[in-house]
Amino acid sequence: MSPEWTPDSWRAHEARQLPEYPDQAELAEVERELKSYPPLVFAGEARALTAELAQVAAGKAFLLQGGDCAESFAEFHPDNIRDTFRVVLQMAVVLTYASKLPVVKLGRMAGQFAKPRSANTEEIDGVSLPSYRGDIVNDIAFTPEGRIPDPKRMIRAYSQSAATLNLLRAFAQGGYANLHQVHSWTLDFMGRSPWAAQYQAVADRIGDALDFMAACGINPETVPQLKGTAFYTSHEALLLPYEQAFTRQDSLTGGWYDTSAHFVWIGDRTRFEGSAHVEYLRGVGNPIGLKCGPSLDPDSLLRMLDTLDPNRVPGRITLITRYGHDKIETHLPKLVRAVKAEGRPVVWSCDPMHGNVIKTGNGFKTRPFDRILAEVRGFFAVHRAEGTHGGGIHAEMTGQNVTECTGGAMALTDEALADRYNTHCDPRLNAGQSIELAFLLAEMLNQEMKEREKDAA
Ligand code: PEP
Ligand code: CO
Repeated sequence: MSPEWTPDSWRAHEARQLPEYPDQAELAEVERELKSYPPLVFAGEARALTAELAQVAAGKAFLLQGGDCAESFAEFHPDNIRDTFRVVLQMAVVLTYASKLPVVKLGRMAGQFAKPRSANTEEIDGVSLPSYRGDIVNDIAFTPEGRIPDPKRMIRAYSQSAATLNLLRAFAQGGYANLHQVHSWTLDFMGRSPWAAQYQAVADRIGDALDFMAACGINPETVPQLKGTAFYTSHEALLLPYEQAFTRQDSLTGGWYDTSAHFVWIGDRTRFEGSAHVEYLRGVGNPIGLKCGPSLDPDSLLRMLDTLDPNRVPGRITLITRYGHDKIETHLPKLVRAVKAEGRPVVWSCDPMHGNVIKTGNGFKTRPFDRILAEVRGFFAVHRAEGTHGGGIHAEMTGQNVTECTGGAMALTDEALADRYNTHCDPRLNAGQSIELAFLLAEMLNQEMKEREKDAA
């Protein structure tokens, strides 16, 4: 790594997973245009998120990060944004109620467009074309024209991100997220899930508590925390020309921030020593994530942390582990021990999605709910054994009633996948499965809290 960082110093490093734009002049023109657009977030907000994540790192809060695998132009609709926001709120209520820990809410939303791919080409019926890399790069339609990377897509992705973020801010602060609405967040189609009744029960108890507090003079007017919530955005910082265009110097501190989102992460395929993505992210002040898969050994993780977080800022780094249900318990302990021995104040978050993809007999990519849950259980078991805090969950989920992951309380079958398989990339948990995951997670978190109390006694 060169010691001198600039917003474009990544260009001298090995950049994997970037599209090759056929028209470089057009790309440069789009980059110039994006540079003149307003930032989506303010540096002060990114610092506020770092402070909240520092609480997670210290074991005093929990991180809930979730949203689409890939946002798309076709699925852009206010109802979709509202429904995913609503499920995140519901999950947060369940988790907070059970664990008594504050929950940091972070959407994979308002910018999650670029996708890394395992293969450069896709083959259908003997025809081979470049892979789809997310709507910000090319078209999902399997045609030669559609798969050509088009820089103008970055402008559309920006405008969709801006509109999405605007609505999220309105929901978070304009009354929708008022805790008194806890009953009205329920989704009609969840009525059939056994967890819907559980959610109602939690909502009733919260309602009673709020009534009691109101009688004591504590209401949304006197305590603004009841009126709204902080909601942050995140995406994989994959498409570096786009991220560079939104790299702005904070007028208050002079530091550089990636203003395309509050939190950005490095994917498992672009996390290696000498990577352009690592070089780019080491210079921005945002809190950042690092996906940790089976190929990461403890020594290179520690070297990467030296590069990305030389000042050991609590909350700066979130390590998002994604091993697979059958690998987590063999791989995670060595990373946890190495990081703990160095005294690094990181957030440990569990991505139980990306190591658990299988292909069904009828050709769908899916994730069995049992495997997702098994990875979460393994994650908490390792942290319990190592005396560290299982600090967060990273889920691909939607507020829609899709049929993409099998299993769960509604026992979604392989055959049912064809009904509403709408994802533009990986299979997502639907609303019911997301709430179910929150309840099961709450149980594990509750267990961690109890053991901590026992140890402290
Ligand atoms: C993702 O989060 O969508 C992703 C591609 O994850 P990973 O980099 O961990 O494979
Ligand atoms: Co994904």
